[in-house]
Amino acid sequence: MSKTVVIAFANNKGGSGKTTTCSNVGCAMAMMGKKVLMIDGDMQLNLTISLFDEEKAYEYAKGEQNIYRAIVSEKDLSDFIVETGIDGLDIVPSTSLMSAIEFDLFAKWQRETVLKKCLERVRAKGYYDYILIDSPPTLGGWVMNIMCASDYVVIPVEASPWGLFGLANMFEFCEQAKKIAPRLEIMGVAVTKADERKKYFKQTMETLGEMENVRLFENYVRVDSAVEWSQDNSKPVVAYKQKSRSAIEYTKLTKEIIKYGNR
Ligand SMILES: Nc1ncnc2c1ncn2[C@@H]1O[C@H](COP(=O)(O)OP(=O)(O)O)[C@@H](O)[C@H]1O
Ligand SMILES: [Mg+2]
Repeated sequence: MSKTVVIAFANNKGGSGKTTTCSNVGCAMAMMGKKVLMIDGDMQLNLTISLFDEEKAYEYAKGEQNIYRAIVSEKDLSDFIVETGIDGLDIVPSTSLMSAIEFDLFAKWQRETVLKKCLERVRAKGYYDYILIDSPPTLGGWVMNIMCASDYVVIPVEASPWGLFGLANMFEFCEQAKKIAPRLEIMGVAVTKADERKKYFKQTMETLGEMENVRLFENYVRVDSAVEWSQDNSKPVVAYKQKSRSAIEYTKLTKEIIKYGNR
């Protein structure tokens, strides 16, 4: 039986490329023949709409098959999975009801590990090679749940002057999570929306390269309008325009993630 590896995409800074990275890494893995489950953990539904048109996304959001229903009922996540239409790629959609998740978690027994428990049977079945979880731009009880359910964290960082701001808080949060989930490991920092012509891109890479004990992924993803077009068409860019620069870069990054995520 294969072993399922769970990877969270997290950064408390919004717009750092979490959702785009999660969606494309998941899709690229599926295109490489892996079985992948993605979990949309953000009330903004961006991961869900990266794969479905808005109408379909709202249908899931208003219905029963979404992450909020799973967490509140504390049921096996299997019942909340939907197919994406891409071979090997499934998802648990999100809903705007996730705005209340902190409140709902608060009253629960062992509230940091509710998601982990919901995932236990899915993991035990070993059907999925990877479970990828997209996080909201917060560092609260829900993201703690995501951390505690994961083997690895990938931290997407925008190559901009403010991109690194608050990164120390993110590392500190991971350290806190490790107290509850000692197996958790920061896999690395992935640079997104890079513009090599800009001076601060070089500066960002240098600063990140100097970090102790944290890997900077060799492959980064540059700014590419194909990403926006793909999102407009409810498809990850690796499926929408395979030959685009960002699709090629996301595929390389995915291979790096597969290489390091081998528990
Ligand atoms: N490589 C890229 N090229 C161009 N735009 C990008 C790229 N990656 C992300 N974006 C855009 O940046 C914005 C933020 O990305 P997103 O993945 O939603 O970040 P987060 O989930 O961290 O908030 C989105 O509008 C997305 O379309
Ligand atoms: Mg997002």
